[in-house]
Amino acid sequence: RPAQDTRSGPRPISVVAHRGASEDAPEHTLAAYKKAIEDGADALECDVRLTADGHLVCVHDWRVNRTSNGRGAVSALELADLATLDFGSWKVGVDDREAPDLQYDDPERTSVLTLERLLELVADADRRVELAVETKHPTRWAGQVEERLVELLGRFGHTKSAMGADRTPPVRVMSFSARSLHRVRAAAPHIPGVFLMQFLTPRHRDGRLPPGVGIAGPGIRILRAHPEYVAKAHAAGHHVHVWTVNDAADVELCRDLGVDAIITNRPKQVRKQLGLG
Ligand code: G3P
Ligand code: CA
Repeated sequence: RPAQDTRSGPRPISVVAHRGASEDAPEHTLAAYKKAIEDGADALECDVRLTADGHLVCVHDWRVNRTSNGRGAVSALELADLATLDFGSWKVGVDDREAPDLQYDDPERTSVLTLERLLELVADADRRVELAVETKHPTRWAGQVEERLVELLGRFGHTKSAMGADRTPPVRVMSFSARSLHRVRAAAPHIPGVFLMQFLTPRHRDGRLPPGVGIAGPGIRILRAHPEYVAKAHAAGHHVHVWTVNDAADVELCRDLGVDAIITNRPKQVRKQLGLG
């Protein structure tokens, strides 16, 4: 059996807010995560990158150009540099084309978010909210990202074998990089790993994952092309967390296939469709 076998019987599908409730609020902002919690998300997904001065921040792209009014690589900027940028107003243009002058003036919608602040939000929530942290690679700080991540998770008590009532640990680490998951696991064996896959390679087609990794993270396109993958991963002892599932037909497919978690930009609508909210 895999070292991190997390299959322990049927449970309701977990709804994971991808970059927060990122359809409604700018991705990776405190506002997006607060909205996700309000909307009933079971878990929050975030991407992390390390700044030049060693802070883990929640930013998807390697550069800040798309999601802020600044330019440059996250890994070359310091947290103080990122703190001067507006990470929210780009979405005004996306959402409100009829009100191009509209600006967000709420710092929760515009400030860079540190992983530390997100961990505080989760710790302060009035119900259990899980966190799925994705390490982004390649990065010039490979190795240091994982080191800093484990250190920070340790400060919040997440490197011990804390479990919820359903025996699921509250924090997991996701990555497309098996090496990154291995580094985290070597330093913090209790933290579950999710192996993200954009394509189903021959090596993983039978449901097996890299050694020690417990959860499969296929993209929805994999399930459209290979619906049998879910049963294979389950038979190999793995939960299946699928990203990024925003269309109703894909939610239906996930439900029919019995996936364990749906990662979505619209947790409220998905919960409603699943009859959970
Ligand atoms: O949850 C996994 C998913 O987020 C991976 O893709 O590009 O959105 O980080 P991406
Ligand atoms: Ca991600």
